[in-house]
Amino acid sequence: MFRGYSRTLGRALRCQAPLARRNIQLSPSQLASVKGWGTIINIAAGAYIGGALVCVGSLYFMYSDANSRQSIPWELSIEDKKNAVKAINKDDVLDSPKYAVKHYRRLLIDLAKHEDPKLQWDEESEGFNVPVILLEVLNSKKSEVFANFYIDILLRYCKALLAKGQLDSSVATLKKVIDDDGIFFNVGDTERLSQCCRLLSRVTQSKEEQVKYLKRLIQMLCTVFPSIKISPEYILQEDSRLTDELVSCLNTLAFTYAQQSKSEPKSSSRWSRKSSKREELLNESLKLYLANLKVLTHMKNSVNKDPYLQVKNPLFNCSLENIDILIAEVKAHISEVLWGLGYKKNATGWAEEVVEQTYSYQGNQTKAAYILQSQLQDLITMYDRLGEQKSQRRCQKLLDEVEIFDRNEDSWYDSVIKRFSKIIYHKGPLGIIEKSLSERFGNPQRVLEIEEIEDEDIE
Ligand SMILES: *[C@@H]1O[C@H](CO)[C@@H](O)[C@H](O)[C@H]1NC(C)=O
Ligand SMILES: *[C@@H]1O[C@H](CO)[C@@H](O)[C@H](O)[C@H]1NC(C)=O
Ligand SMILES: *[C@@H]1O[C@H](CO)[C@@H](O)[C@H](O)[C@H]1NC(C)=O
Ligand SMILES: *[C@@H]1O[C@H](CO)[C@@H](O)[C@H](O)[C@H]1NC(C)=O
Repeated sequence: MFRGYSRTLGRALRCQAPLARRNIQLSPSQLASVKGWGTIINIAAGAYIGGALVCVGSLYFMYSDANSRQSIPWELSIEDKKNAVKAINKDDVLDSPKYAVKHYRRLLIDLAKHEDPKLQWDEESEGFNVPVILLEVLNSKKSEVFANFYIDILLRYCKALLAKGQLDSSVATLKKVIDDDGIFFNVGDTERLSQCCRLLSRVTQSKEEQVKYLKRLIQMLCTVFPSIKISPEYILQEDSRLTDELVSCLNTLAFTYAQQSKSEPKSSSRWSRKSSKREELLNESLKLYLANLKVLTHMKNSVNKDPYLQVKNPLFNCSLENIDILIAEVKAHISEVLWGLGYKKNATGWAEEVVEQTYSYQGNQTKAAYILQSQLQDLITMYDRLGEQKSQRRCQKLLDEVEIFDRNEDSWYDSVIKRFSKIIYHKGPLGIIEKSLSERFGNPQRVLEIEEIEDEDIE
């Protein structure tokens, strides 16, 4: 569309009346002096046009990079777009969510005021709280792209607030989105909402809410993806399709139960008839983990037999490595729960299996190496308690050999956009030329980090 427009514009310009030619008469001496100045004028004009091109080009580069991370709707005003680009850039590219908070906040307040010009919002007293646009407005007056964008920005804001230590404002804003049935079940990107709901469950203080939000999330996933099959007790069924988020949610729910059991007192007598709350929670956790393990194992067995596995589960990473690592993770948790329930021998058995499975992956999968490391540490503690020193020494020897390679290096593109952004915040777009010139002719200077350039809160 854009290209078509510029083409017609070009044609319109060309069709205008030809410019009247004017002849300038110069004397030979004038001519000589103009020729002398010519190169300088050319350089100046070249630099000027080049500078303008670099300005426009690099700003567009930043915009399109942000847009590829989070699509920015056209209907936003220029000011809002600028805030959105800065926020997304600082959050995703520079990994400095703390510095993105002010832009997200300004953007959210502006968008809400735009929708409701009568809105009274006392920024001073509200601090980091932001007004939320109502569902009716999102659904009736706005495009789907806008609605998705808006929800994403709200959720990004909440995440960034956590980095800043503003737990209360973050939880309050997250709840506004997640407690609203209309928004939670209908608007916004499922993956992003799911991640944020898991986040809310992790940061909220009340135990009931931790479980409540995870269950709500699993219900949401079941509504959005009808091929997911879960029993009313949240046990994964064998014929269910999987998504990455679903597996994470179920594991997190099981983990939450196990975690909560730690604060319950152990039952006083081993033979007490009355089952303790602690045991109940661990049982609950074990059931979930075992069901997940069963489905994942089934999946693993069909990887090489069923060529349509990935097609049937488009939102699940069906690579053998991924499934193997997930299985190892679940087994590691099962071992922990069994230990908590008093099945010590079984616990070490499962743990040994995890070690065996992750050992071959430690060189090429960072996550596997982490699982292996923590599992060996656990095993050492277990064998210590059981008094099996020989096994303990064997594990210690293995642990000493574990090496963790963090292959989280930035790609070429990431490092370029990162460097670009820092220079632009510091010196503006022309800084890019200045920087390359000064590197060519002078001492190279270090690119300053965002912390050295601006204040966290001053917009
Ligand atoms: C936990 O599970 C075990 C075996 O499955 C059972 O014997 C026990 O009664 C259960 N405890 C609770 C509290 O449900
Ligand atoms: C699937 O998981 C494996 C192992 O974790 C990873 O190497 C691969 O890139 C993932 N594939 C996709 C499409 O995410
Ligand atoms: C523990 O292991 C024994 C035998 O290895 C098995 O019979 C028993 O069912 C296991 N218990 C649990 C809770 O897995
Ligand atoms: C890497 O992963 C493969 C599985 O895809 C595994 O067989 C291999 O042993 C791993 N380790 C190395 C060092 O290649």
